[in-house]
Amino acid sequence: MAAAILISVWPTSSREVLAQETPAPTAGQNVVLVTGATSGLGRELAMRLGARGDHVIVHGRNEERGAEVVEAISGAGPGSARFYRADFASLAEVRRFAERMLADYERLDILINNAGFGSAPDERWVTEDGHEYRFQVNYLSTFLLTHMLMPRLLASVPARIVNVSSGAQTPIDFDDVMIENDFSGRRAYAQSKLAQIMFTHDLAEDLAGTGIVVGSLHPATYMPTEMVRRAGATPRSTIAEGADAVMQVVDSEAFESGQYFSGLRKAEANAQAYDPEARARLRELSQELTGLTCHMGRCGFVGDPSEQAALLDRPDHRPPIVPELRPSRSLLWSGIDPEAGIWRNRLP
Ligand SMILES: NC(=O)c1ccc[n+]([C@@H]2O[C@H](COP(=O)([O-])OP(=O)(O)OC[C@H]3O[C@@H](n4cnc5c(N)ncnc54)[C@H](OP(=O)(O)O)[C@@H]3O)[C@@H](O)[C@H]2O)c1
Repeated sequence: MAAAILISVWPTSSREVLAQETPAPTAGQNVVLVTGATSGLGRELAMRLGARGDHVIVHGRNEERGAEVVEAISGAGPGSARFYRADFASLAEVRRFAERMLADYERLDILINNAGFGSAPDERWVTEDGHEYRFQVNYLSTFLLTHMLMPRLLASVPARIVNVSSGAQTPIDFDDVMIENDFSGRRAYAQSKLAQIMFTHDLAEDLAGTGIVVGSLHPATYMPTEMVRRAGATPRSTIAEGADAVMQVVDSEAFESGQYFSGLRKAEANAQAYDPEARARLRELSQELTGLTCHMGRCGFVGDPSEQAALLDRPDHRPPIVPELRPSRSLLWSGIDPEAGIWRNRLP
């Protein structure tokens, strides 16, 4: 059974990313990251993946529940698990989380972007980065994390990215993305969920031919999870039904990259998801807000190099400078650019 001791990766602070010390994946074991695996659907997915022998990276904010999920997976076997804490309301935490993943793991076979905050309470919150809360937690942080982890996914092809979205979808008003007018928690949630689907379609195009399949889905309607309880809604489906739907997108050989599913069936998302102009606007905005710049699948950070250098300067940081040359038009390796002193993904 894995030790459930939590260690601080960086100086102890409730805001810092936390990870468990052991265990590491064994040779041949699939490595899967499930974001938001400390409760609800994510917990069920993590348990199922562990039960089939995968190494599950359990992510969330709540350390106690994270440790409980790791114990449950390790105790049941045959898989293994490790918990990492990162608050998606902080882009700095997401960056540190991704850096830690790059340092700790040589491969990542499956990325399930499941973490999310629901429509309740019906209050407008702003993150420390100055962005509308649901837009950042449910979408923008996923955009950043996924791009930063791309080198490990490319190193593990055939690999898969699954974005757990929702049937609740509202078109983005590009004149008011942060919903300063006519705010409702429902609108903020539904906008962020459509943004995830637009991102999925972009990724599917960018990654065509690389061996990474990307999909998004509405798992099930009103599963009895924390966000549904908070909204006071009456559950209409089970967590098992939602997990069946996600696992189908994770595993199905027949699944075509870029598809959107509702439950177990292929479905149509909101029309904005198929609008190339809207997707381009969202992509540009997301790159601007995260400081990540991508061209032809080549991504790196722009912005203040000294901030990046400081991030990488910590004595316990193991820089992920591992060339990963692959015949792909997308991201080929990640590492610290020796000239700029900042982290980059690069073409050779
Ligand atoms: N429930 C439904 O009926 C339903 C329907 C359609 C789609 N979905 C989608 O399914 C996914 C899972 O939701 P759920 O229903 O299982 O809800 P849940 O029980 O509330 O779980 C949400 C998960 O996301 C994590 N999370 C929330 N805010 C976070 C933040 N700021 N930073 C990092 N992690 C954060 C939580 O971690 P901590 O608790 O550790 O903070 C938790 O692990 C979501 O993407 C949701 O939109 C759910």
